[in-house]
Amino acid sequence: MDRKNFLQTCGMACIGGSAMALLLQSCGISKTLTGTISDSDLLVSLSDFETKAGTETHYKKYVIVNNDTLKFPICVYRQDAESYTALWMQCTHQGAELQVFGDKLQCPAHGSEFDNKGKVTNSPASQNLRSFPITIVNNQLKISLKAV
Ligand code: FES
Repeated sequence: MDRKNFLQTCGMACIGGSAMALLLQSCGISKTLTGTISDSDLLVSLSDFETKAGTETHYKKYVIVNNDTLKFPICVYRQDAESYTALWMQCTHQGAELQVFGDKLQCPAHGSEFDNKGKVTNSPASQNLRSFPITIVNNQLKISLKAV
């Protein structure tokens, strides 16, 4: 490959990557937000899962919730309108922070994977992720952090 072709290829790859990032943001596939802690509950509004497209409402598969007092974020998956799963984003192998890719969480350290309910689907981790009880009160998820 000569220099001109190399630069064209790199340029197209760069444009494609930027366009994909914008597309993913505009689709609202995921969202990172700061949750409020009240007593021992992390509070997340159900509206944080919503995205509007004209008059239609769509729902994100998950949101990632941070709070300065938490060592790791919590990924909250929307299983359906009344069922959510809150997962501690710390790998059960050696404690690295996980990354979310759609319905799975991956560990960048050694490649463990977990499904959207926290179950190990790929080793070396052998234990499922820590999850938290959730109650829905007044259109708000109350994620109990008593076990953290
Ligand atoms: S720390 Fe996650 S796989 Fe090793």
